[in-house]
Amino acid sequence: MMNIREEYIKYFENKGHRQIPSSPIVPENDPTVLFNTAGMQPLIPYLMGQKHPYGKRLCDYQKCVRLTDLEEIGDKTHHTFFEMLGNWSLGDYFKEESISYSFEFLTKVLNIPVEKLAVTVFKGDDKIPKDEVSAKTWMDLGIKREKIAYLGKEDNFWSAGDASPCGPDTEIFYFRSDEEVPSKFDPSDDRWVEIWNNVFMEYYIDEKGKVSELSQKNVDTGMGLERIVSVIENVDDNYQSSIWKDVIDLICEISSKPYEGNEKAMRIIADHIRTATFISADPAKIKPSNTDRGYILRRLIRRSIRYAKELGIDINSDYDKKVSSIIIDKYEKYYPELKDRDYIFNILKEEKQKFSKTLEKGLREFEKILKHSNDITGDIAFKLYDTYGFPIELTIEEAKRRNLKVDEKGFHERFKNHQEKSRTASKGMFKGGLLGHSEIETKYHTATHLLNAALKQVIGNESCQLGSNINTERLRFDFPCDHKLTDEEKIKVENLVNRWIEEDIPVIKKQMSKKEALLSGAECRFIEKYPDIVTVYYIGDFSKELCGGPHVKSTGKLGHFKIKKEQSSSSGVRRIKAILE
Ligand code: SER
Repeated sequence: MMNIREEYIKYFENKGHRQIPSSPIVPENDPTVLFNTAGMQPLIPYLMGQKHPYGKRLCDYQKCVRLTDLEEIGDKTHHTFFEMLGNWSLGDYFKEESISYSFEFLTKVLNIPVEKLAVTVFKGDDKIPKDEVSAKTWMDLGIKREKIAYLGKEDNFWSAGDASPCGPDTEIFYFRSDEEVPSKFDPSDDRWVEIWNNVFMEYYIDEKGKVSELSQKNVDTGMGLERIVSVIENVDDNYQSSIWKDVIDLICEISSKPYEGNEKAMRIIADHIRTATFISADPAKIKPSNTDRGYILRRLIRRSIRYAKELGIDINSDYDKKVSSIIIDKYEKYYPELKDRDYIFNILKEEKQKFSKTLEKGLREFEKILKHSNDITGDIAFKLYDTYGFPIELTIEEAKRRNLKVDEKGFHERFKNHQEKSRTASKGMFKGGLLGHSEIETKYHTATHLLNAALKQVIGNESCQLGSNINTERLRFDFPCDHKLTDEEKIKVENLVNRWIEEDIPVIKKQMSKKEALLSGAECRFIEKYPDIVTVYYIGDFSKELCGGPHVKSTGKLGHFKIKKEQSSSSGVRRIKAILE
């Protein structure tokens, strides 16, 4: 079978590109995102004009994690982890060559018939003209006029979010069906699937949405490996392609169940264990926790366990190790960080044990409750959820086993009610008493964010807020750290905070959904305790925290920051007391 990953690199190397290694999934110098979500992400500085040590033509396969589709995992095409094949021109070739390379690779290397291809190009708007160059290039190569669709900004303009290089793109589609290829391309006909995206990055979009021209014209292309492999292997379910087939077969064997009828659970287990394996192996050393990336890792592992239970797998067996192991076998040749298998297996196992304990407690409670009542009311289901972390699906499952009914509607009503209450409570909390609102306390709140950000830069990105307390005299801040801060570290932290104060940086407040906050990479401790709509405070590009406030409008108002004390708080946790003078 053809190894598309290797063919791709070979092809672009022959065209003068140099292969760059895949960056870690946790971005190294980009606090704005939780994970790399596209191949171009680690290349942003170079797309903006910085010189890349490997030159102007690059290619790679990049590990990516996208969480926007988490709820959709379980269907035929979604994954939380995927690899993106990419090639770039950093101010070198532009539209014609880029399109010609893609066309040649698809039709000559992968042998896709031209008739099965169609493309979209940017139709232009009041600021950026219609992309005639791309359309003409496609036609010169043999793509018929009827197979080109002109679409607007929603479809044919790509950026990695706010503050990113961006530009119009041309997307390549493949007709995934045995039916006759229609003569006219209709992008809304889902037999046409997008396989490759060539972005012509000549612009930059800032946080406020203002678009300006970049100093150089770049090309950024991305092709999802899972998608192209399933196309070439002619399967319409990605999980039946050679990437997944043996993993799914293994899950069938472990659960003694066929794939048919159990697709959703099996896909979720396969997908989530793969992503958890890669996140655990990342040099950033993420561990399951209740915040940020650790929270995502925890959710993925726990969700895979729930679906394993659903399939009747004995979760205390080493099934997760087996699945992770077969995944590592496939990938370690390309991603050497996977070599430390025991470390990865251990993370999966420890989290499984923690989750089991929570579930056991819930089960005991469940039994107790059953002694006094028959059917499970919404209130009881909610208590199991709220106090014992018992997912509603599990309550339903356990109830079914005992021939009992669960008042699901009642549960959801209680759940909604609770969300509203906690929303009001947290509003009230921030208004009254718990968090002080005097001018000096407000300043300490902002200083706390600066201190948090400075510690990340001085002692490491894994530093975070474990506890904070503010009064009119001082701030107190607890953070994870395995050593007493040296004088040098303390001075560095103070200097950084004071520099940011001098720079008088605006403190920007944005409201968003919890999901958006998580995806934006904001520091979100105990996110589950917050209402659905949360407030995130941004300071420059170095601080992004979910917080109830209050904060000053800009850092210049804080005065001079000084660390008064640095001491141990508990094992592995240090405490700083600091003042503004
Ligand atoms: N950045 C573009 C994408 O992710 C092309 O690589 O689709």
